[in-house]
This record gives sequence, C-alpha cells and structure tokens, in this order.
Amino acid sequence: MNKEIVVSGIRSTGKLHLGNYYGAVKNFVQMQNDFNCFFFIADLHSLTTHPTPGDLHGHVKHVLVEYLAAGIDPENTTIYVQSDVPEVAELYLYLNMNAYMGELERSTSFKDKVRANPDNVNAGLLTYPVLMAADILMHKAIKVPVGKDQEQHLEMARTFGNRFNRLYNADYFPEPYAFSFTENLVKVPGLDGKGKMGKSEGESNAVYLSDSPEVIRKKVSRAVTDGGPTSEFQEKPEAIQNLFDLMKIVSTPDTLEHFNDLYNKMAIRYGDFKKQLAEDMILATAPIRDRIQEISADDAYLRQVAKHGALKARESAQKTIREVRELIGIKSF
Ligand code: TYM
Repeated sequence: MNKEIVVSGIRSTGKLHLGNYYGAVKNFVQMQNDFNCFFFIADLHSLTTHPTPGDLHGHVKHVLVEYLAAGIDPENTTIYVQSDVPEVAELYLYLNMNAYMGELERSTSFKDKVRANPDNVNAGLLTYPVLMAADILMHKAIKVPVGKDQEQHLEMARTFGNRFNRLYNADYFPEPYAFSFTENLVKVPGLDGKGKMGKSEGESNAVYLSDSPEVIRKKVSRAVTDGGPTSEFQEKPEAIQNLFDLMKIVSTPDTLEHFNDLYNKMAIRYGDFKKQLAEDMILATAPIRDRIQEISADDAYLRQVAKHGALKARESAQKTIREVRELIGIKSF
C-alpha cells in the first residue's frame, strides 16, 4: 500500500523547546508508522541569521540528537540534514522564478523578522517560504506537521506548487496541508507573558527538552504572573492564560481543572500553581532528556543515521529534479 507522504523540518538554531516538541516533533513520532515520513534539519534556513560555522554544525547535531531522543526511528523514517540534499537548492532556484516580491513581502513572518532585525533584511529571509516550499514539494508531501506559526508558509507552498503546475501545464505537485493530531494547530505560549515560546524571545522564555529539572523549576518560578484575580470567574489576562495553556499541554485534565477552580474562586496561589506546572513539565520531558545525553555521545551512530537518511532523501529528490527539469525544458545536448 502506498502511504501518504509527510515532510517537515526544524531550523537548526539550537536546542529544541517545548514549542518545537508539541507543535511538531510529537506529531512526527506519532506519524512515523502510518505515513511515509521525511523529517529533516533545516540548516540552510538557519543561515538567514548568519551563525558561525562552529555553531551551525553544533546546532544541527542538537536537532538530530533530539529527534532521535524523542523517538523518531531512523529505520522507519527518513531523517536527514537539508544541506545533504543539494537538489533542494536547485528546486528553490526554479520556484524563485515564479514567486513574486509582493506576496513574499506580505508574509507575516517576514514582516516580523524585518521589525525584529532591521539591519539584516537579506534576500534569503525574503525567499524563506520558497525554500520551505522546495523542501515540501521535493517529496510531493500531502501532510506537513507544524505548529500554528507555519500555517501561512503552507499556504505559500500550495501557491508555488499550483503556479508551477499551471505554468508548465502539468498536474505535478500535490497540495500540502499543515497537519496536527490535535483539533487545531498548536501554539505553545512562552513564559514571558506575551506570545509564543521561541528561542528569539529570550533564553528564559523557553523551556528546552534538554533543560535539567532544576533549570525548569527556576524558569517556571520566574514566569510572569500578576497580583491574582480580583473577582470570581474573571477572564484571565494573557500572561496567566498562557500558563494555563501550558498546563493544559503537560498536565492531566484533573490538575488543570483543580487550578482553574481555584482561580475562579480567587483562591489560587501562583507559587503552588507554578510548582505543579514545573513538575509536570519535568515529568513530560524526562524520557527524552535521559536519552539526549546517551545519543549525543555516540557520534558514529549519528553519522550513520545522517548518511542513511541523506541517501534515501536524495533518491526521492533526484527523481523530482529529473522530472522538474524535463517539465521546464532543461535538457542536455
Ligand atoms: P522552526 O524551526 O521555527 O520551528 C520548528 C517547528 O516547531 C514549531 N513551533 C511551535 N509550535 C507551537 N508553538 C510554538 N511556540 C512553536 N515554536 C515552534 C513550528 O511551527 C515548526 O513546526 N520554517 C520552519 C522549518 C522548516 C519547515 C520546512 C517546516 C523549513 N522547511 C518544511 C515544515 C516543512 C521553521 O522555521 O520552523
């Protein structure tokens, strides 16, 4: 039976945090038996922020190790490093020819990055969604497990694929859609009281899979709260709602309900609430944390996984590139 094709990746900007895990990696692990999965480490995407050569390689290793520690099985799944598949850069070039400035400039994540780093508005940043579309279309993926923040990029991948099909009058690329086993795409909030968990939002905003229990306790204890509810059944301000959303992800429904009741009765003590949240985060990440150390020490195994994955990914990519060249009319004499 032909399994549906799934592609997803994570930028190699460092260690994985709970946002990466609950938004993406947890779905990867759940999908690997029923789908034909390609999960990669997006090291080319991370070049937009100019990492040093040493940092770049170290970060690729972090993501590879953490994929494996989270339970992705390289026998079942194609795990690879994006730059090991040079065909991606070629497809990116072709897709760039029919990606328009206006639509790229309107992308929310581009606008956010421009606002955050006005001194580094490079062309790679502008065409970031095109590179992402190349990753996805390369293997003709249908499902792309990602967090909420990637939804617009998926829409752009569909646009570029459809435009290619129209231009070359071929029913070639299928339409990829964002996927999650949860009802909606996931958005994991950060600890700073505003918005999502992310690396660029500052070290203390994110809880990493490799953080020790002591570090997790410390980070959660410093999470932003307020003076407490001032009336019963009051709507929660963003910072408090974020902590409840985190609890919903890592704790049992009973625990969540317990603290929700206390909040509604104006009897909540944020100290106890945060202690419970930290312990549940520690528990949820314990099996992964334990394996990170072990796998990280085994360079021979990591080399073998990356090599095997690159071979499988290139086989699929080379087929696509052959067909795409043919459709475009690139032929050798
Ligand atoms: P990146 O590296 O920013 O994030 C990797 C994955 O983690 C998810 N994620 C979150 N989900 C929920 N809540 C959060 N706070 C949170 N933070 C991160 C992201 O949604 C993503 O699924 N452009 C991608 C990498 C990429 C890619 C691709 C993904 C490159 N090519 C092709 C899918 C398909 C990115 O920057 O993700």
